[in-house]
Amino acid sequence: MNVGVIGTGYVGLVMGAGLADMGNTVVCADVDRSKIERLRRNEVPIYEPGLEPLVVRNQAEGRLSFTTDVGEAVEQSDIVFIAVGTPPDEDGSADLTHVLDVAATIGKHMNRPKVVVTKSTVPVGTAEKVRAAVGAHTKVPFHLASNPEFLKEGAAVQDFMKPDRIVLGVHSSEAEAALRELYEPFVRSGNPILFMDIPSAEVTKYAANAMLAARIALMNQFADLCERVGANIDDVRRGIGSDARIGKAFLFPGPGYGGSCFPKDVKALCATGREVGARQDILETVETSNQKQKRVPADKVARALGSLAGRAVAVWGLAFKAQTDDMRDAAALVVVEALLAGGATVAVHDPKAMDEARRHFGSRVGYVEHRYDALKGADALVVLTEWQEYRVFDYELARRLMRGAVVVDARNLYEPARMRQHGFTYDSIGRP
Ligand SMILES: NC(=O)c1ccc[n+]([C@@H]2O[C@H](COP(=O)([O-])OP(=O)(O)OC[C@H]3O[C@@H](n4cnc5c(N)ncnc54)[C@H](O)[C@@H]3O)[C@@H](O)[C@H]2O)c1
Repeated sequence: MNVGVIGTGYVGLVMGAGLADMGNTVVCADVDRSKIERLRRNEVPIYEPGLEPLVVRNQAEGRLSFTTDVGEAVEQSDIVFIAVGTPPDEDGSADLTHVLDVAATIGKHMNRPKVVVTKSTVPVGTAEKVRAAVGAHTKVPFHLASNPEFLKEGAAVQDFMKPDRIVLGVHSSEAEAALRELYEPFVRSGNPILFMDIPSAEVTKYAANAMLAARIALMNQFADLCERVGANIDDVRRGIGSDARIGKAFLFPGPGYGGSCFPKDVKALCATGREVGARQDILETVETSNQKQKRVPADKVARALGSLAGRAVAVWGLAFKAQTDDMRDAAALVVVEALLAGGATVAVHDPKAMDEARRHFGSRVGYVEHRYDALKGADALVVLTEWQEYRVFDYELARRLMRGAVVVDARNLYEPARMRQHGFTYDSIGRP
């Protein structure tokens, strides 16, 4: 099938490469000229495991191409996906400027009937705005669909190629037939393609992220409770996770959720709730408690050191989670700023997010290539991302390099007893 994907970010690039790999002819379009030029040279601008080989192979075999000409991508395609960003507006609602810009361009280049699919995460009711924006520029009939994306950064290729489920909001049999044909190769093992009406598909995406964000926020509150009463959140997690009704996933406490989706989607759903008179007050609390949680690691360091002024602090992990270079709304942004504001000097390390970090912190922090270099002369270490390579800790080396012995582990990677045995003043999240 001929597919256009407009917006070549985490979602658009993964889906474009994934659809091409199944044998479709895919044009990916983006207004970011330098991104498109790099992609044409097979340089993948984001870190996402398994993505580069897909881009290289499909581009070489002629199924995947990149353009800055959005209109041309639309004209070449029978199915057009809108996969541009939907950042939060000032009031937390999703900013639809990019989505509606693309919709207007699609209308202007509607050279034959097409299926127009919203892949971006958009508030309920957006499809009708897309319909109006496309329809304002064309008399050619088109079919609308909503296809929210559930991939996880860090496992995006795997999630896209083998999804747990595919959610499709449609209002016509033509859209249903075209999208069923496009997606059937991805669910050969029997996972469902769930057709529903468009508003339900739009709500499903926000409901999924809200549910996951709430689980994390709740675990962080339980962790705070555990710290105050001498209980251990790891044991509590095991205790509740083995209940089939609850399940094991998304029960790890930490420095608060971040990334490009949970924070903005929770805020956007709250905004929709306010707008339609169905206030999402549980989620409003999730959001504020998560903001509070992001300050916890820096507060713990300050408490352990007495004061941050003049102290040297090493930070391991800047990406909002492991296996990505994405720092959007990462806890590291809050923690590093709090450390700097308190008067500490900061040295940072991340296996993949160093370029991103430079954009945020500039010359205000030191950057090290090897994680132990950050410990030279440090009074404290704070661990913010659960990178696999951080999970084994060289106690002797760390003790030799550090001036102090404070370790705040916001991902509960290390054993408290072992850390203390080696002379560290160790604190983590929700463990005695
Ligand atoms: N990142 C994720 O893990 C994830 C997962 C599921 C859903 N989503 C949703 O998917 C959407 C895209 O997210 P992302 O993380 O890929 O965003 P992103 O910021 O990585 O990429 C968006 C891309 O759209 C391009 N763009 C903006 N305006 C454009 C226009 N008018 N024409 C063409 N291109 C344009 C930008 O240049 C950018 O490259 C968002 O709504 C997001 O909420 C993201």
